[in-house]
Amino acid sequence: MKIAVFGCGYVGLTTAVGLAEMGNEVLGVDVNPERIEMLSKGRVPFFEPGMEEMMRRNLAEGRLSFTLDTPSAIRFGQLIFSAVGTPPKKNHEADLTAVLSVADSFGRYASDGKIFVNKSTVPVGTSEKIRETIDLNSTAQFDYSVVSNPEFLREGTALQDFFNPDRIVIGLEPEDLDVKKSMDKLYRPMLDRGVPIQYTDVRSAEVIKYASNAFLATRISFVNELAEFCELSGADIKTVAKGMGLDKRIGTTFLDAGLGFGGSCLPKDLGALIEKGEALGFDFKLLKEVQKINKRLPGRMINKLTKYLPQLNGKTIAIWGLSFKPKTDDLREAPSLELISALIKAKCKLKVFDPVSMDNVKNLFAKNTNLLKNISFSAHPYDALKGSDALLIVTEWDEFRNPDYAKMKPLMNKNIIIDGRNLLAPKEAQEKGFYYESFGRTLSAEKISSGKNSSSTMNEPGLYRSTAKKNRVVRG
Ligand code: UGA
Repeated sequence: MKIAVFGCGYVGLTTAVGLAEMGNEVLGVDVNPERIEMLSKGRVPFFEPGMEEMMRRNLAEGRLSFTLDTPSAIRFGQLIFSAVGTPPKKNHEADLTAVLSVADSFGRYASDGKIFVNKSTVPVGTSEKIRETIDLNSTAQFDYSVVSNPEFLREGTALQDFFNPDRIVIGLEPEDLDVKKSMDKLYRPMLDRGVPIQYTDVRSAEVIKYASNAFLATRISFVNELAEFCELSGADIKTVAKGMGLDKRIGTTFLDAGLGFGGSCLPKDLGALIEKGEALGFDFKLLKEVQKINKRLPGRMINKLTKYLPQLNGKTIAIWGLSFKPKTDDLREAPSLELISALIKAKCKLKVFDPVSMDNVKNLFAKNTNLLKNISFSAHPYDALKGSDALLIVTEWDEFRNPDYAKMKPLMNKNIIIDGRNLLAPKEAQEKGFYYESFGRTLSAEKISSGKNSSSTMNEPGLYRSTAKKNRVVRG
């Protein structure tokens, strides 16, 4: 099939590359000339495992190309995908400017039988706006369809998710039976492998996208509240989450406690759903709490740190992980950014390491010299530890999961680890001589040996005691 994909960001590029890989002829369209030039040369402007290789192969085999030329792209494609961004406005409402601009062009240049497939995340009712915009801009009446086909790709595993989705959701108008045939044809390689496809009305498809992200966010905030409760009650959140998750009705994923959710999607879509509710006179009380719980997590990490270092002024803090999650260099809504600002405000020096996103941090703070001059970027995780008073683990990169404690210990000034993603085994970290804090894991109240230069602060009585009571009576 001939397909034009508007927007060459994470969603658009993954869609364009994935559809080309499935044998279609695909034209990726973007308004950014530098991006188009880069992509045409086979370079991906962001970090996404496997993307560059697959993109290059499809470019070389002639199924994929990129253009700035909107009219030609719309004339070329039988299916016109919108995968442009819908960034949040100040009131969290999704900004539809880019989507409606694609609709505007579709109205001007499309002809009979073309299908507008919306992959951009948009609030319920947007398909009607898309139709209105198309009709407003077309000079003559023509037969077209608008389909809602939300995406469920995760950054870091976008291609894997594209080819092996849990489901494909397609919202269409009841009279659009020909469109259903086209969508079945498009997704046949996946349907043949047993991927379920759900045809719905357009509005339900639009809500499914927001509801899915809001539910994932709710699970994360739920487990984070529970983690706080576990700290007080002496239970272990990992054990509790596993025990809950083994119930098939609950499931084990998205129950990792820690610094919570960041990224461009969960926080944005949660805000947009709450805002849309308000516009319709509905108060999403639960989702507002989900937001609040998530927002206070970086502060919880600072509190854990000040338990050990009451005076942060002049301390050197190492940070492992900057991106909002592993396998991406995306910093949008990353907890690291809030932690960096708070620690620098408290007059700390920072030594940071991230396998892929350090350049993005440098660029982000390029104009903020006060911040940058207090951050040193390390080439290796252990370099960041040299002379540091504590280590904060902020992103769940696999390479942080099994650290060499013996190597770490002499490098650090004080052996404090605050594990914002519950990656390490508390007992092991303690046995290796570290003061270890997690988010909701069981801590032994035993006093452990301090690091090379343990200070008087470190030995203040009572500072390291678990809040959990010892010798609890377990009633059967
Ligand atoms: C999310 C959804 O998972 C995708 O299905 C959706 O398509 C995408 O948004 C989107 O709307 O485009 P993504 O933002 O890439 O994908 O990230 P997730 O894998 O969902 O992780 C979000 C955040 O939650 C990360 O910061 C991660 O560290 C955190 N998280 C995840 C937890 O804190 N605990 C968990 O158990 C899982």
